[in-house]
Amino acid sequence: MRKKLVAGNWKMHGSLAENAALLSALKPALAGIEAVVCVPFPYLAQAQAELTGSSIAWGAQNVCEEAKGAFTGEVSASMLLDFGCTYVIVGHSERRSLYGESDTLVARKYVAAQAAGLTPILCVGESLAERESGVTEAVVSRQLDAVIDAAGVASLAKAVIAYEPVWAIGTGKTASPEQAQAVHAFIRGRVAALDASVAGQLVIQYGGSVKAANAAELMAQPDIDGGLIGGASLVADEFVAICRAAAK
Ligand code: PGA
Repeated sequence: MRKKLVAGNWKMHGSLAENAALLSALKPALAGIEAVVCVPFPYLAQAQAELTGSSIAWGAQNVCEEAKGAFTGEVSASMLLDFGCTYVIVGHSERRSLYGESDTLVARKYVAAQAAGLTPILCVGESLAERESGVTEAVVSRQLDAVIDAAGVASLAKAVIAYEPVWAIGTGKTASPEQAQAVHAFIRGRVAALDASVAGQLVIQYGGSVKAANAAELMAQPDIDGGLIGGASLVADEFVAICRAAAK
């Protein structure tokens, strides 16, 4: 059976004091439950200091596609490794839409993360206009295929996919468990057509307005293997409840 994995995406939130309070609430409450927090770059050292030895892993929300060099303002995968990261989010819809990250660039970031030994959490998902015009599967396929073409299907054995319908992110509109399950099954099927064993093991998280109140029904779907949690990951009780729902 696949393990379920819940990751928090703090986005550009937090401060040293707020993070300390959040992490000290999460640590005891999640003892023995595997979870991840993806924090802003400046707080990676704090995450490392607070979380080493706990069941909570940490990671970043973005990574440079290049290994080193004259790339002002960028952060490399090996730098993330220096701070004990095990995960990094790549291709979040906010990066794609607000910072113009293309499928090709996202695939390069995925490759750079894996080359350094990090597990990429690859985000895919359609906008509202795309869903309404019936191209959800085409969009998700295009985003997924860019990575498979660049890195091979076997690379997914060391990756996590997060299906995040853009219209459900931060809007309070969650995909229904059935809507989410349908896309998760589609993604797994597309991978299975290339490699059934990789598909069977692949962790596919759902993201988009997941909260304590809707986590259990989402996590009960056969192809939903956890969640990527934005807003609710900043509230200790909410995040803990979501992680516990996934661990059941
Ligand atoms: P949300 O964000 O849970 O606040 O909708 C999810 C995400 O963007 O990863």
